[in-house]
Amino acid sequence: MTTIRAEVEAPSTNLAGYELVEDIHRLKKERNAVILAHYYQQPEIQELADFVGDSLALAKAADKTGADTILFCGVHFMAETAKILNPARKVLLPDLNAGCSLADSAPPEKFRAFLEQHPDHVVVSYINCSAEVKAMSDIICTSSNAVRVVQSIPADRKVIFAPDKHLGAYVQRVTGRELVLWDGVCEVHVDISIDKLKFLMGKHPDAKLIAHPECPQHILDEADHVGSTSSLLNFVKTDPGTKFIVATEGGILHKMREAVPDKTLIAAPANAENSCACAECPYMKLNTLEKMHAALLHGQPEIILEERVRALAERSLRRMMDLG
Ligand code: 13P
Ligand code: SF4
Repeated sequence: MTTIRAEVEAPSTNLAGYELVEDIHRLKKERNAVILAHYYQQPEIQELADFVGDSLALAKAADKTGADTILFCGVHFMAETAKILNPARKVLLPDLNAGCSLADSAPPEKFRAFLEQHPDHVVVSYINCSAEVKAMSDIICTSSNAVRVVQSIPADRKVIFAPDKHLGAYVQRVTGRELVLWDGVCEVHVDISIDKLKFLMGKHPDAKLIAHPECPQHILDEADHVGSTSSLLNFVKTDPGTKFIVATEGGILHKMREAVPDKTLIAAPANAENSCACAECPYMKLNTLEKMHAALLHGQPEIILEERVRALAERSLRRMMDLG
């Protein structure tokens, strides 16, 4: 996570259940706040949000908002992205410890040294990185547009892709471009068990496997469809199939079940012993209704960025957004 924080935890409150939800609505109006949530958030948070989406859609929603405060229910790099695009608005993250193994895999100083070893490369960074890494990058991508972003770079240019080596390798296979990959992984997607998955596919031969490109190649090679969370959601809605094994974080199943109540959705199993059956991001699940309420009540924890870093990070993010 980024090192340029001046953020403070908000004290928690004693309200419970429906009182919390009602008071969140009241505070939201009072503060002219908007609630943005990622698909991996708990169902009750998705239900309260004004907008639920993937990383690209959330960045766009943050860019378009007229609210004074953005309460971002996701992880730190996502709230930071909202702040990069909205320097004048207050951006709150319910739990500051909501990090990301990919963002953490690329500490700014190590990343700077890596870039120095690879001069003359165009630097493409996945949005799952800190503001400092975005500031050192030429262009940002998300899982929705990574292929398009890489294809937008002239074929004679050498390219660094960071920090997700599995997404990078996937983009490499689709585009045929050789990329210099940073050695980072999403701890949640690499924890999906190929052995348990193959067993499940054997048990449900009529199911289609759909997978997020943060998964390792041995899973993507088995998949009928690979895409971002929005793309996976759209696939189950539009594909004529009626049974799907979903290889990504289990939170996406909430919107999928809402959208296709008559279809069978099976979460791909995680490796970790004693874990729940599905893959679960421990950082995403740190946000709770109590912490959302406390954040709106106290105006903390707030994302604060050094202006020089923010402006450089905005430049690389806007390049992505300008691609359409
Ligand atoms: P998308 O929702 O953009 O597919 O990304 C998933 C993710 O890694 C969130 O952490
Ligand atoms: Fe990061 Fe993976 Fe969690 Fe997404 S699911 S926030 S990539 S650790």
